[in-house]
Amino acid sequence: MRLLSKSGDTVEILAAPGEDGLRRGDYLQAIDQGRRILLQVIDVDYANVPGAVEDALRELAGERIQVTTIDPYGVGSLIAGVKDARIIVAKLRGIVEGGELRSDLLWLPSKLNSRIEPAPPEIIEELSKAGGRRAITIGECMGGVITINAEALDGRITIITGKKETGKSHLAKLLITSLAEYGARIIVLDVNGEYLGLGERVDGEPSEVADKLVVLRPGENFTASLEDAGLRVMLDILQHVLDTPAASLREFGRLWRLVSKVEGRITLRGLMEALARGQMHESVREALTSRLMSLEQTGFFRDERPTELREVIEGLREGGIIVVDLSGMLPHGRRIVVEYLLSKLSTLLRGGEIDPLFLVAEEAHLYLRETYWDDLITRMRHIGLFPIFVTNQPDTVPETVYRQADNIFLFNFTNESDLEYISKTSRMDSETAKRIAKSLPPRHCLLIGRMVNDIPVVVRVRESYLKTLGETKLIWRS
Ligand SMILES: Nc1ncnc2c1ncn2[C@@H]1O[C@H](COP(=O)(O)OP(=O)(O)OP(=O)(O)O)[C@@H](O)[C@H]1O
Ligand SMILES: [Mg+2]
Repeated sequence: MRLLSKSGDTVEILAAPGEDGLRRGDYLQAIDQGRRILLQVIDVDYANVPGAVEDALRELAGERIQVTTIDPYGVGSLIAGVKDARIIVAKLRGIVEGGELRSDLLWLPSKLNSRIEPAPPEIIEELSKAGGRRAITIGECMGGVITINAEALDGRITIITGKKETGKSHLAKLLITSLAEYGARIIVLDVNGEYLGLGERVDGEPSEVADKLVVLRPGENFTASLEDAGLRVMLDILQHVLDTPAASLREFGRLWRLVSKVEGRITLRGLMEALARGQMHESVREALTSRLMSLEQTGFFRDERPTELREVIEGLREGGIIVVDLSGMLPHGRRIVVEYLLSKLSTLLRGGEIDPLFLVAEEAHLYLRETYWDDLITRMRHIGLFPIFVTNQPDTVPETVYRQADNIFLFNFTNESDLEYISKTSRMDSETAKRIAKSLPPRHCLLIGRMVNDIPVVVRVRESYLKTLGETKLIWRS
């Protein structure tokens, strides 16, 4: 292999036909006089040899009339090799110096004297290591083991994305079980009921996180009282989830204060009664009655013995996973529960009543209202709620979230518009993201961002012993 050219951070390398047994995402190093640069392969092309078209045409014509080529000097294979040369397109990731990857140094290896070879896996492992000591093994890359540190996710925004069935949820489970073992607390919003089996291994034995798993089922072991939710949350739910008109919202606020003053305590019953008795426009009464009845029907709001979220979270002293099972719920119910949960968490965090935690949100657009995204990545992250978004529809996550994401686990995408969208991430050049994501096999992902020291690495995600639930039900099972 020979260095051919460099433009910006794109480097072209000339290779003989046999030399390109590489995969997208692999690393090469070019060594010259003891120094080296690190190059990441993103594509391979045929070399544009002058006169190649003419030669090919001549050979094609020759085939038809079966001429025998005379090759007195035996250079035929050499010429064939030249015609068949490849160009490896790679991205310059930096100069390796003193165990560090530097991008500020101005140095290029000699085109004539440099040696180009696959980078040893240890170098990639070493360079991609971010600070911290709580290692999470993700999988394998170029024969080496790639681990990230739990600290790289702490206080950060993480996105796991890729098309369907590529292994996103598998990776999310792998991450959160490791985080929980290291003592972190994680809340999972589970729309498919696929995190409920984390307590069990494939062989039926209890898993390492069996005693760290709490499943909250809204309406069953997870309920809230109106009193606890407070007027602001209830107004948000009425406005954003149940589309209550402004006039009715004002009336609701008035009723709330009235009941609170007269009875000393807010209950759903109390509000219903006050609504039936109070003087107001019939249309307002109807609007509010129907909304309060929908709230009651979710079974989530109950006046007696509401769940003490703080106790549930604090109960997991050594870390743990709280799965909020949203799988059996209707869209309205899901959104109501999430609205309550987020506002409750933010109150608890702000008051210093609970320690910071992770929030895993799969397909968040199904239950998160538009205005919550910004809140989650700015205000709520500052007070200690660190989101891990998982999605197979990248355009349902606002662009700002990609721009601000610190870590991205990128699985395969083939659709151009999806690729365009994910390439907006600020932690990597869009060309690499697009070309690599397009060619990733299932269960392989590209790690981007802080967790790998901004050295993008393609990893084959390891298997896990955990029982998987929530698989797609099929008509025919093989
Ligand atoms: N690295 C892996 N090793 C072994 N099995 C895996 C791996 N990754 C995924 N799987 C299996 O492949 C199947 C699909 O994976 P998973 O459910 O994680 O995909 P997904 O990307 O979340 O899909 P969806 O978009 O439908 O939610 C699952 O049965 C899972 O157990
Ligand atoms: Mg999934």
